[in-house]
Amino acid sequence: MSSHSQAATRPLGVGILGAGPVTQAIHLPSLARLRDILEVRHIMDVDATVAESVAARVGANHSTSMDALLGDPDVDIVAICSPHQFHADQVIAACRAGKKAVLCEKPFAMSGEEAARISAVSEETGVPIIVGAMHTFDPGWLAAEANWGDLPQNVHTIRSSIVLPPNARFEDFATEIITRPAGGTPDYSDVEVIKNALRGGIMGLAIHDLPLVRRFTPDFEDLEILQARHVSPFGYVISLRSGDRIIELRAAMNKTWKPEWVFEAISDDAALRVDFTPSYVQAGSAVATITRGTGTRNATGTTYGPFEHNGYEGEWRELAQLALGTKQPPSAENLINDLTFAIAIADATVDEAAAEHTQHANSHAGAHS
Ligand SMILES: NC(=O)c1ccc[n+]([C@@H]2O[C@H](COP(=O)([O-])OP(=O)(O)OC[C@H]3O[C@@H](n4cnc5c(N)ncnc54)[C@H](O)[C@@H]3O)[C@@H](O)[C@H]2O)c1
Repeated sequence: MSSHSQAATRPLGVGILGAGPVTQAIHLPSLARLRDILEVRHIMDVDATVAESVAARVGANHSTSMDALLGDPDVDIVAICSPHQFHADQVIAACRAGKKAVLCEKPFAMSGEEAARISAVSEETGVPIIVGAMHTFDPGWLAAEANWGDLPQNVHTIRSSIVLPPNARFEDFATEIITRPAGGTPDYSDVEVIKNALRGGIMGLAIHDLPLVRRFTPDFEDLEILQARHVSPFGYVISLRSGDRIIELRAAMNKTWKPEWVFEAISDDAALRVDFTPSYVQAGSAVATITRGTGTRNATGTTYGPFEHNGYEGEWRELAQLALGTKQPPSAENLINDLTFAIAIADATVDEAAAEHTQHANSHAGAHS
């Protein structure tokens, strides 16, 4: 029979749908360090040249059809690394094909309705799904989580700050869901362009850390946007309130700063700071520091990390455990709540930016009348 009867003696087989930069620069290097447990067996891309050349690098089968990959009995785990608009249908097809575990790159889906469809199929088929929000699998973050005690109950400020270089790869990543005018600079006097840029920033970039933010504000019924600004050429400054918590989300592409990716959660007497490695970089884990007694003379900090691997490798280790059944599957409800949170912030941010734009335009017109 196929790999299933031999699974105990050979590594688990991986199949990848979509073999663009994320597959090439992120997942294949991570998988190359895990060859004893995972083996890439099938690469699918709608571009036959990409499928063939990427598959050749790892000695895998290749195809241009999703059904060929899902029908390959050597594939136990499916990773979905295609553009976001294909994610929901491909996750559902992988579950229905009876695979052992599924990794879906972020964003998991683009609407609550898609997420609910995925959740129903995951429940029906029992196939575990994880989303490639890699920071949630970073050992530095996991060590902080194991040690932060009652910080989530007492936190008043949560902050995610991302500074990335304006290199084409980072920019494409950050602006991936915007249709950019070919060859031109976007016209940021057009409110629709600003709305797209903000939604793209939240669903493409902030979304990495929104599951972390949600750990500190699980109940997000009453989101209120205090400020929402797009930063040229790419970035955002968004302040919002969730109950009595303030959330600050910032991102900037900046030529002079070194890359920085920081998450902070602060209460009256304790603070968490996590420094993550930038996306695409495979250089060990995040480093987390928890300081207690802040504001007193006796403040003490404990640092966790760096550990040997980061969240990219962490997600593959988790997938292997899920496929072998040695780890409890994560709840699909949690993934849906993470997505609902991101969509709620994106919707409210876009509304606020549009209102500010109109107000600004009106006051400008008033000044000239
Ligand atoms: N985790 C991270 O750090 C991170 C960073 C950047 C992007 N991403 C996510 O990873 C995914 C892939 O990003 P990318 O930059 O490699 O994307 P990309 O658009 O540059 O490349 C995707 C590849 O998918 C192929 N493709 C197109 N339609 C397809 C289909 N229907 N089925 C299969 N393949 C198809 C394309 O030919 C291309 O080779 C996106 O969802 C993105 O949001 C994750």
